[in-house]
Amino acid sequence: MDKITFALPKGRLFDQTIDILKKSGILSEDINQNTRKLILESKEYRFLVVRAKDVPVYVENGIADIGVAGDDVLLESQPDVYKPLDLKIGYCNIVVAGKPEDRDFYFSNPVSLDVATKYPKITAQFFSDKGINVRIFELYGSVELAPLVGLAKFIVDIVETGTTLRENGLVVIDTIRPSTAKLIINRGSYKLKSDKIFKILDSVEKFLGGEL
Ligand code: PRP
Repeated sequence: MDKITFALPKGRLFDQTIDILKKSGILSEDINQNTRKLILESKEYRFLVVRAKDVPVYVENGIADIGVAGDDVLLESQPDVYKPLDLKIGYCNIVVAGKPEDRDFYFSNPVSLDVATKYPKITAQFFSDKGINVRIFELYGSVELAPLVGLAKFIVDIVETGTTLRENGLVVIDTIRPSTAKLIINRGSYKLKSDKIFKILDSVEKFLGGEL
């Protein structure tokens, strides 16, 4: 039997997605990510444990049939996939942040700004819409360091609890948009494995609808 393959981001979203699949009645077994194994199997499904940013790559290229990715990741990578469902988990905001003393400069109609970020495309689009030139420093993590050491006055990043900003003396200066996790589906799988995929979508949708 050809198993449906999920690409799931490691960490909290992984556990929350497994929880939704179990409560939807799709998955009957426990899937434990507390191992170094990158492929986890249940009777009917295969789960690939990947970095959040890599989920769309596995789904777009048909290695996984289904994935879970936040709007932040999807806006940045613009994958050619179906996005049929908001899972209502992974709530966060994509924001511009910086030191409190730099807030006035940000709102003074500057000609150009320096921004450090893991999201160069979202950043370029946001500031282009505002007509502000932006010099982007692409980083891969710990972005909050950039304003503290003078790499860039501002950052574009996701904020969930606000703890990382707070502990580093930074504040939200502008909000770009909220982000939640979406179920994404490979276009070929959507057609070729439609029975199984629709059953999953239907069960998850019913569960989430009932949860409201
Ligand atoms: C993300 C994000 C922020 C932090 C926000 O980083 O880039 O740094 O979480 O969460 P908070 O508002 O709850 O503090 P992540 O933990 O993925 O680590 P990274 O910096 O290595 O990318």
